[in-house]
Amino acid sequence: MPITETRIVTKRLRDRPDDSWTIEGALASGAYDVLRTALTMTPEAIQDEQVKASGLRGRGGAGFATATKWSFLPKDSFPRYLVINADEGEPSTFKDHMLIERDPHQLLEGIAIASFAVQCNLAFVYLRGEFALGYDRLTAAIDEARNRGFLGNNILGSGFDLDIIVHRGAGAYICGEETALLESLEGQRGMPRIRPPFPAVAGLYAKPTVVNNVETVSTLPHILRMGGEEYGKLGVNKSTGTRIFSLSGLVNRPGNYEVELGVTFRQLIDDLGGGVRNGGKVKFMIPGGASSQWLTGSDEHLDCPLDMDAVGQFGVMLGSGAVMVYDDTVDPVLVAWRLAKFFAHESCGKCTPCREGTGWIEKVLYRMSHGLGRADDLDMLLDVGDNISPGLNAPFSQTTICPLGPSAVSAVVSLNKYFRDEILARVATATEVSA
Ligand SMILES: Cc1cc2nc3c(=O)[nH]c(=O)nc-3n(C[C@H](O)[C@H](O)[C@H](O)COP(=O)(O)O)c2cc1C
Ligand code: SF4
Repeated sequence: MPITETRIVTKRLRDRPDDSWTIEGALASGAYDVLRTALTMTPEAIQDEQVKASGLRGRGGAGFATATKWSFLPKDSFPRYLVINADEGEPSTFKDHMLIERDPHQLLEGIAIASFAVQCNLAFVYLRGEFALGYDRLTAAIDEARNRGFLGNNILGSGFDLDIIVHRGAGAYICGEETALLESLEGQRGMPRIRPPFPAVAGLYAKPTVVNNVETVSTLPHILRMGGEEYGKLGVNKSTGTRIFSLSGLVNRPGNYEVELGVTFRQLIDDLGGGVRNGGKVKFMIPGGASSQWLTGSDEHLDCPLDMDAVGQFGVMLGSGAVMVYDDTVDPVLVAWRLAKFFAHESCGKCTPCREGTGWIEKVLYRMSHGLGRADDLDMLLDVGDNISPGLNAPFSQTTICPLGPSAVSAVVSLNKYFRDEILARVATATEVSA
């Protein structure tokens, strides 16, 4: 039986394509009902009985348990801030964009629930600068929500106050990394901070801060509506609930698909994405956005469940929830070069292995992908990579401050793992021709 989507976070926007972002459309489909109930609960009950019980893990990339992250806030230290990461710069990821544009009230309800749960009275949304329509709809939604008493002072008569500030980014991918984001929000150049201290202890303006992704927070109203334990029954193992996967590349029906965690790559690609174009086969795929290592079209890989931990057996991650699919008409070296160019361009330059290494990786991959590769190029790339991510365990080992440098190594490791023979044979043929 082909699978279908399990629409929870995407339900309103799919059911009401013409008005899901308006206050009328949102209220007609139950928006802010859960907030009303949440404000009658204690913050501890929301944290423990709902969010912790649901097993919710962050949808921004690292998959860290949301309730655990909140629990790191030092007790009795105020003010504290909630910052929503709406930068969505990871190549091929386009789910937050959709949630912001088409269901801003769901996000606002989630922000209000999270803010009440962590006892913060001022939240920020760090919004990718290019999301022009998203900015208009989100700021209009904030005004509407304030007018109706869902934001501002004494929300719904509960005595809880919350304001939200929307800050537009200026196009740097690194500003999606949470500490670079905080620097940028403070008006500094967006460069990651050295940890500790972690944001929970000293984040925005050196105050305790939680940084959460748009999809993570948009899930909160549904966790409270269903009940944490019930939500936690969805999904598989420690990957509970649903996630939105941005499926792209050479599939017949690219797009955002919300599925219960635990379905396989094959089901996502074939049942929802309509399979590879022109009846082709998957040659390789990149899960988790550009930062992850790659998978191939082998049965073992295609039948791997979308489980944040199980995918680790192949060295990959679900990351930001993107899956790029390629068939045998695509040169993997060219793809690796294009990704390397992105990382070299986006490196903030704060640490030497990333600043220098990403540039060299890009240059060597350029010549390899343009018919000028040398026999020892691949080994040289691995050596450069090993200096950024020792043991080549990208992105988990690093000589750098943040995981951007190691992310640039993922494609190199994948080329060596799956395409070494093909690449060396190609170099040998090119050398013969030129001789
Ligand atoms: C280079 C880099 C870019 C990132 N970009 C984003 C982003 O655009 N959106 C996002 O939510 N998280 C991004 N992250 C992850 C954040 O640092 C952080 O883990 C996340 O916002 C936490 O939210 P969550 O716990 O709800 O997943 C990025 C991380 C790195 C290293
Ligand atoms: S790893 Fe790269 S992007 Fe991250 S702090 Fe270092 S130089 Fe900047």
